[in-house]
Amino acid sequence: MAIERTLTIIKPDAVAAGHIGDIIKLFEAQKFRIVAARLVNLSKKEAEGFYAVHRSKGFFESLTNFMSSGSALVMVLEAENAIKRLREVMGATNPANAAPGTIRKLYAASIESNAVHGSDAPETAAYEISYFFPGMNLI
Ligand code: CMP
Repeated sequence: MAIERTLTIIKPDAVAAGHIGDIIKLFEAQKFRIVAARLVNLSKKEAEGFYAVHRSKGFFESLTNFMSSGSALVMVLEAENAIKRLREVMGATNPANAAPGTIRKLYAASIESNAVHGSDAPETAAYEISYFFPGMNLI
């Protein structure tokens, strides 16, 4: 299995609730290595650019308001099979459907305020990593 890089965001709800440390502890316990990190306060325009693929969705306006509502921690994680494994560690998008022990089960409040983001495919990871870390090696 290949070493991959993926993008994660600890979203404004989890940062405001003081869960940065808890979530990083889970990542490190699962052998993800943090290879880049930025604490950001996204503008509405930056949130819209990041989530451009969801522009036609009914939740786009609310999602981009939420994502620009406070500090968020953006990180590139590296591990074997990182993209798929990160999504397993995060749990289902809707915390009501997330498995026990996953980040969203532990820390998310709703389908929108769902604590973390993770890239869903290699192409998405490439776009998302370069969105926040231009020029960064993707592996
Ligand atoms: P994320 O994994 O960052 O990808 C897109 C985000 O949109 C998702 O997490 C949620 O924060 C949000 N989202 C997805 N589906 C819905 C929905 N049905 N209603 C509100 N927000 C949603």
